[in-house]
Amino acid sequence: MKIVTIYGQQHKGNTYRLTQLLLSELNTLFKKSDTPEIKEFYVNGTSQCLGCAQCIMKDEELCPHREEIYPVLSAIEAADLIILASPNYCMNMSGQMKTFCDHMAYRWMAHRPFDMRQKTGAVISTAAGSGAGKVTKLLKEQLQWWSVGHVFRLPQIIWDMNWEDGSYPQMKKLKKKVRKTAGRIYKNMCRPRTEYKLSFLFFIMKNMHKGTMCPPFEREYWKEQHLI
Ligand SMILES: Cc1cc2nc3c(=O)[nH]c(=O)nc-3n(C[C@H](O)[C@H](O)[C@H](O)COP(=O)(O)O)c2cc1C
Repeated sequence: MKIVTIYGQQHKGNTYRLTQLLLSELNTLFKKSDTPEIKEFYVNGTSQCLGCAQCIMKDEELCPHREEIYPVLSAIEAADLIILASPNYCMNMSGQMKTFCDHMAYRWMAHRPFDMRQKTGAVISTAAGSGAGKVTKLLKEQLQWWSVGHVFRLPQIIWDMNWEDGSYPQMKKLKKKVRKTAGRIYKNMCRPRTEYKLSFLFFIMKNMHKGTMCPPFEREYWKEQHLI
């Protein structure tokens, strides 16, 4: 099994630690069968999308930042589980994570998706007061538009920063929650199930690409990929 984790922050704070907790639970579950190969990317240095739309309108190879994006993209396409992790910054994902997601626009189902309906997704966010749930919803939306079949959310309010020394008061509860989420993810990875909403959205996009609403080169792509 292959796992790719994309962090929207460089430092190893709450979101990183929560993600590591999940990865360690998954490792424990998989050790029984097959140790997963984990790739981690920090997208802080990603250049901002210039808005030239060449990736959408012509060819992703024309993106001036293609060399930065390609290694992450190929890891995503090879992975069984895709994890997006971002802290809540001003009730949203970090700007760096959003910048990375902008580079994935051409891979949206509305354009030229890489079929990821059999893949599992997980989205993680932490906040000091509120908004971690909102951020995981936003991250899940991104994965769904990339066509990831089943996405699990792991939001957490962490108002106390000192959880490393074991004094974080809700650690026991948090570990239980992470274990439960890891179990669900594991189950879906072993037997992938596509969420109803995703299947419906894919169906709409498929029909859109069969008709004349989309540019002919997009229709050609869907045909080449045997999606229509
Ligand atoms: C720029 C910035 C904006 C933030 N905005 C919010 C916010 O809107 N709501 C909130 O509850 N916490 C907010 N926080 C706190 C972080 O979301 C919280 O401490 C989080 O756990 C940090 O995760 P990290 O250690 O992985 O960076 C903000 C922090 C920063 C640095």
